[in-house]
Amino acid sequence: MVSLLLTGIGELTTHDPAYGGPLPDAALVVEDGRVAWTGPARSAPAADAGSDLGGRAVVPGFVDSHSHLVFAGDRAEEFAARMTGASYSAGGIRTTVAATRAATDEQLGANLARLVAEMRRQGTTTVEVKSGYGLTVRDEARSLAIARHVTDETTFLGAHVVPPELAADPGAYVDLVTGPMLEACAPYARWVDVFCERGAFDADQARAVLAAGAARGLRGRMHANQLGPGPGVRLACELGLAAVDHCTHLTDEDVDALASSGTTATLLPGVEFSTRSPYPDARRLIDAGVHVALASDCNPGSCYTSSMPLCIALAVREMGMSPAEALHAATAGGARALGREDVGHLRVGARADLAVLEAPSHLHLAYRPGVPLVRQTLVRGGEEHGPGTGLR
Ligand code: NIG
Ligand code: FE
Repeated sequence: MVSLLLTGIGELTTHDPAYGGPLPDAALVVEDGRVAWTGPARSAPAADAGSDLGGRAVVPGFVDSHSHLVFAGDRAEEFAARMTGASYSAGGIRTTVAATRAATDEQLGANLARLVAEMRRQGTTTVEVKSGYGLTVRDEARSLAIARHVTDETTFLGAHVVPPELAADPGAYVDLVTGPMLEACAPYARWVDVFCERGAFDADQARAVLAAGAARGLRGRMHANQLGPGPGVRLACELGLAAVDHCTHLTDEDVDALASSGTTATLLPGVEFSTRSPYPDARRLIDAGVHVALASDCNPGSCYTSSMPLCIALAVREMGMSPAEALHAATAGGARALGREDVGHLRVGARADLAVLEAPSHLHLAYRPGVPLVRQTLVRGGEEHGPGTGLR
């Protein structure tokens, strides 16, 4: 077993409560793809190999717990129309459905690989990927089979919208999603998701989809309260889902339900940016004791960014989060939203997934928005992006 000592870490964020915050002048030892030791550089143990990070900050790799990366085409024109006054509607999803159905597996896989590489360059080390642009048994199942090549965190989102061919009979589509489509998709999925929103699926339909998924061994998550208030957040809490995502429009009852449940509220500020919508109030949630995550929601419609640093900057600038809270939400928060204990932090035993910043502290993630601050991304201690230091 070869051990690797990272030294010269100007500031190390581990999320270890024993440190009470980021550790200055730190070192970290990786052994067998896991964090084996962290502490002050002066007391670092010997290791087989070493790399001096020259005073740069190290943070846990970002855990992006919400993305839609299996699709074809883009909707740049729709974005441009929004920026000059048009509003976002869930119906735009059908444009991407048509393009995705027409694409080959190779085209979908290549686009997915391109986006995952883009994420790696920006420090993301764990990503959840949803289906939801196929909406036939074949197209949903192949979307998930393709996603499985890049992540174990795959989510069946057959209940994204009702496809055009069944627009007149949404009940028949829910029967398809909860029946043959789920059967075909479950072998490739860990999670089941539903878009509970006006224009997509109502609470009863969401309940049916999540119950069918649970019976097939899939844990639930939900898109809710994105475009307006609704029953989704409270339903997610009642069902004990791991996460409910968007949470843009919340009543006091919704916030109380979140605070008294274990359900993580995943905020997706790239969506509000890209749809020119009001941002969710993260401060209100954190002050109420809600577990909060940040994720990209990377998709061609409501938010075509893959950048977790951008999401952190938006959360700090627009949603009342401190830089430390935003970093926590983008790492440990995302891990919690995925029910993962091995990622999202750098305590001893964690997967050695981390980002080396071209900056002396994590504050620069929000302080220097739009700047490519991630110099190196390590996954299980091996370099997935960076200048090439032989860390693999
Ligand atoms: O999370 N809200 C539903 N689904 C995506 C949007 C997908 C699209 O517009 O293509 C979202 O924002
Ligand atoms: Fe989404």
